[in-house]
Amino acid sequence: QNPEIAKLLEAYELAGKLYQYILKNTEQGKQAMHYLRSRGLNDRLIDTFGIGYAPAPWDTLTQLLERRQFPLPLMEKGGLLSVRQDGQGYFDKFRDRIMFPIHDWKGQLIAFGGRAMGDAQPKYLNSPETMLFHKSRSLYNMHLARPQIRKRRQLVLFEGYMDVIKAWEAGVTDGVATMGTALTEEHADVIRKQADQVTVAYDGDAAGQNAAYKSIPILEKAGCLVKIAVLPNLQDPDEYITANGSERFVREVIEAAVPSIKYKLLYFRKNFKLQEDGEKLRYIQQALRVIAELPSPVEREHYVKELAAEFRLTFEAAWQDLNEIRLQSEKNN
Ligand code: UTP
Ligand code: MN
Ligand code: MN
Ligand code: MN
Ligand code: MN
Repeated sequence: QNPEIAKLLEAYELAGKLYQYILKNTEQGKQAMHYLRSRGLNDRLIDTFGIGYAPAPWDTLTQLLERRQFPLPLMEKGGLLSVRQDGQGYFDKFRDRIMFPIHDWKGQLIAFGGRAMGDAQPKYLNSPETMLFHKSRSLYNMHLARPQIRKRRQLVLFEGYMDVIKAWEAGVTDGVATMGTALTEEHADVIRKQADQVTVAYDGDAAGQNAAYKSIPILEKAGCLVKIAVLPNLQDPDEYITANGSERFVREVIEAAVPSIKYKLLYFRKNFKLQEDGEKLRYIQQALRVIAELPSPVEREHYVKELAAEFRLTFEAAWQDLNEIRLQSEKNN
């Protein structure tokens, strides 16, 4: 193995231990511990996820790495330290932040997400792209979730650290996160190797719901069967669990996830005033366009029947329109 990579892995491991120690055993860590408690995390969860605290001073980690004779330029390149303005020496990249370690699938610590406790921006400071960490294919918690994912060939995809952790506590131990909403084709390929089915449980706000919509073709192109869990009241999974408890989360969110086609229909429906005839007809056309994309004739028939029943159309008329749409799109491709 590349000696720089080995050295950097060793440094991340050491930094993780330092941050955990400071959180649990020092005066500096008290406020951070208080913050974690206020968000509902107990000691067991803090240990399971290796959560720590990077203290406020400029050089706590820098000094430790220096004492242990780690090459500081490499530590900077590796995302743990920053270069001082005057170019003379280094300082800690993460200061006064709750530290969520990010591991690769083998369980090696390769990056951090650091959350500000107050209003400091950004809310989460993540490690940059390094020789260890590639954001476009890393999934938070894959190392802990992997056994459960492989057992059932399915996983739940969240946006954030706290969603994964609170869901884990609720019994959803096959959850991973994209760390934001930018799901890539590379993520989808990683997912496909472990699982056949994905439940996307992104935040209930507009950003999360739009990202869930966009995730569908990416995951389906990779060959996954996709369901979408819909979070009510603009909540995210963490907030939902805090408000409604674990059982309702599992039953009413995760197990109630809808097939991607249903989600697309729901997603478009919000934009139409269905009491008005013109809008209703436009929605029906939109719905038929969505249904027309289904590869299986049996599925197409099923959803056209549903749509026809709901809007009191004859199946034949709706089916005829659907086939027009399919002919048109074949011509355009
Ligand atoms: P959210 O804004 O939904 O945050 O971003 P959250 O996970 O609900 O965080 P809490 O509950 O306020 O602590 C979802 C994810 O996007 C990434 C993080 O991985 C976060 O968990 N993110 C968000 C960043 O990388 N940077 C940011 O500034 C914000
Ligand atoms: Mn990369
Ligand atoms: Mn969000
Ligand atoms: Mn969120
Ligand atoms: Mn949240």
